[in-house]
Amino acid sequence: MNWQNKVMKMLDAQSIPQLPGAIRLADYAPPDWLVPEVSLDFRLSAGSTRVTSRLVVRRNGNHDRPLVLDGQNLKTSFAMLDGEPIDVVPVGERLEIAIVGDAAIVEFEVEISPALNTRLMGLYESEGRLVTQCEAEGFRAITWFPDRPDVLSVYTVRIEGDAALYPVLLSNGDRGAVETGLAGGRHAVTWTDPWPKPCYLFALVAGDLSALRDGFTTMSGRQVELAIWTSAADVPRCAHAMAALKASMAWDEAIYGREYDLGAFNIVAVNDFNAGAMENKGLNIFNSKYILADPETATDSDFDGVAGVVAHEYFHNWTGNRVTCRDWFQLSLKEGLTVFRDQQFSADQGSAAVRRIEDVRGLRAVQFPEDAGPLAHSIRPDHYVEIANFYTATIYNKGAEVIRMLHTLVGAAGFRAGTDLYFERHDGQAVTCEDWVAAMEAATGSDLGQFRRWYEQAGTPRVAVHERREAGKVIVELVQSQSPTPGQAVKLPVHMPFRMALIGRDSGRRIGEERVVEMREAVTRVEFDAVDEPVLLSLNRGFSAPVIIEAEASRTELAFLAGHDDDPSARWEAMQRLALSVLATDDDPAALVSAVAATLMDGTAGKLDAAFVGEAMLLPTESFIGDQAAMVDVEGIHRRREAARLAIATGLEAEWWAALRTYSGSGTALTPAAKGARRLANVALAYLVGAGSAEALAAARIQYETAATMTDRMGALSALVGTDTPERDACLADFHARFAGNNDVIDKWFTVQALSGRPDTLARVEALARHPDFSITNPNRLRSLVGAFAANQRWFHAADGAGYRLLGDQLLAVDRINPQSAARLAVPLGRWRRFDAARGALMRAQLERVTATPRVSRDVLEMASRALV
Ligand code: ARG
Ligand code: ZN
Repeated sequence: MNWQNKVMKMLDAQSIPQLPGAIRLADYAPPDWLVPEVSLDFRLSAGSTRVTSRLVVRRNGNHDRPLVLDGQNLKTSFAMLDGEPIDVVPVGERLEIAIVGDAAIVEFEVEISPALNTRLMGLYESEGRLVTQCEAEGFRAITWFPDRPDVLSVYTVRIEGDAALYPVLLSNGDRGAVETGLAGGRHAVTWTDPWPKPCYLFALVAGDLSALRDGFTTMSGRQVELAIWTSAADVPRCAHAMAALKASMAWDEAIYGREYDLGAFNIVAVNDFNAGAMENKGLNIFNSKYILADPETATDSDFDGVAGVVAHEYFHNWTGNRVTCRDWFQLSLKEGLTVFRDQQFSADQGSAAVRRIEDVRGLRAVQFPEDAGPLAHSIRPDHYVEIANFYTATIYNKGAEVIRMLHTLVGAAGFRAGTDLYFERHDGQAVTCEDWVAAMEAATGSDLGQFRRWYEQAGTPRVAVHERREAGKVIVELVQSQSPTPGQAVKLPVHMPFRMALIGRDSGRRIGEERVVEMREAVTRVEFDAVDEPVLLSLNRGFSAPVIIEAEASRTELAFLAGHDDDPSARWEAMQRLALSVLATDDDPAALVSAVAATLMDGTAGKLDAAFVGEAMLLPTESFIGDQAAMVDVEGIHRRREAARLAIATGLEAEWWAALRTYSGSGTALTPAAKGARRLANVALAYLVGAGSAEALAAARIQYETAATMTDRMGALSALVGTDTPERDACLADFHARFAGNNDVIDKWFTVQALSGRPDTLARVEALARHPDFSITNPNRLRSLVGAFAANQRWFHAADGAGYRLLGDQLLAVDRINPQSAARLAVPLGRWRRFDAARGALMRAQLERVTATPRVSRDVLEMASRALV
């Protein structure tokens, strides 16, 4: 029985999601053979690249097992052991070589075809350039190698190619010998990387590229040459990324004492890329979406995305590269920690409060639903079929929340002592999450025994809050609980920091100091000294623990907190809770309208900054509203949210006009104040267009046409796209013509239409899937249309199942081309339990259609079958 049949049988049997062929953490064993040195020689051509490799291998420990190598789609032309040709007979994607002594030289020549590589893993072609992506298991598609992160090697890489097609030849480390004028118009460059690294950090780029160049002097006075490579035309659009890179290098020195360790740092931007970016040693490769930015083409949030991802990949140089992962179960060791570091960096660069709110919003929009559904997994999973399926919001964003809790528990100084010890102990090693926690514990003397449960348990804990008065004292009981997740029935209480304070119900001020309560038991009792004023609780301030709070509060109390809580996250959360409470019923939204008005006034009066006000004015999304109930009422949520939007729009029309006047015209500056003003002005414009006056449509049209920034142009277009007006059609057509050929901007054009609330959205999306600019092979474009549409709760979940069918069609079509792209599309269908029986059956039908399709990829089969359980 083949693997697919086994999976289907397992599904029939309704057993637990332990798929056949799963790799288990419990089975980890150290590598039998180490590879201290590797030399690679690439003779490039898009159709057929020849890779010669020379591996110095050394027996690891006392055993007589063979050397095991991984390889995928390799045409092996010769293999040699210690200079003698050997016959190699791969079994599937593995090759075993028996070696007698304790050390040997193994050599191969293989042929690969970058031009035919549509999976975008290994060496592939993107717009005439040749680029690599090796994490997690792409190196095996380049040559035979022990493709696992605990084998660290020093690399020497010679790249030879046509000098006209590939004038720039890059690899990791520092540039060495250059050979020019080789036969056939070819040239070559040799790179050496002195730092031992796992093969997933190997990188090569060849192409006609131009660079934005700069330099950085490190804390010990070393000069580093910086270059960001792209097409000549896009070089000016790299300035923001370059500034972010230099700021990141300085920040990592100042905050973590970490210095860069090579003479050069190169970044390359490419258009076809599965992920956001990749931290290859000394040669980061980026999805161009996270490099190219100027006011004309990038929104404020795009600018923030560029800076955040540049910082993230740079920070990996220490958290990921110098100290790497022992195995892929430890992925969050580098990703959670590095996301936390990039969040800290971004908070330091701009408005920390708003940044925290954005992070929380993202976590709850993506990670909470993941943790509440069939795809739930802990931040250190214990089995997987295809590791590419585990680059998830849980590993990255919940992972970062776990690190943030550690930071809160041990304090900033303790945390720094912990990271110092971690680097001191483990520099040059491939380690585990346990090593990380142990270093934190040893450096701070804290007991993190129970804290380790965060690494093992999946699911989002709930904290129920009960409050009473005893002799004037305020007694709060915090009760933590957690529902079972697939394969994990029993949940134990976790150790978490819970920040709280009291807010006076009369004064509106904080009473006494904020408390950081360390919750450990199922029930934690907190006592506040007697106060003579009625009080309200300010809970989970700064979102100190990634939990769901269950607390009783009336709308009046929530409105009061939304106006007075002195913690920005908690204040924002009060507004969210108030909105959720109103949107869950058909009640008059008056309470919400007046809370919005009060916050808006605080902004105009200068009591709150515009960025915060803009954030607070956004209603919870339809999907987030849906996540709050046991069953998603697709039509009801849409209807009630639209009604509330209209009430806020019409009830405060004069205020929105005033806000639009006050906050528009902030130019192109990227200061927190200017970004906040743009956000708030665009929120105002959206409400005004929603109220439907001719003046508002005209204002949107004028803003669209005269916009100085993409933020404002996009703000106007998004406001118009839900309307049925000539302005909408004119602006959409203009946008497409104006930005023809600019991939990142055309992606926005697809997305804004896919997210529209108009009833013809599904038909539009179907038409857009046939548009000449649509491309199923480009991950960004696929995500911009199909990924975005799956987030449109009202129309993706159309009752007749047409949205699900569209997704199923696209998923199966792309699976033949790029399994990683395809597997991502299975995720939205995994929410089937949350919908009514009819929708649930239609969603399952698509998942079953996928699992029953012959020769579906392992990536997709794993996701679809887990989603069905
Ligand atoms: N390590 C890269 C990053 O920082 C992501 C690699 C993604 N790989 C993948 N197979 N999706 O975040
Ligand atoms: Zn990362």
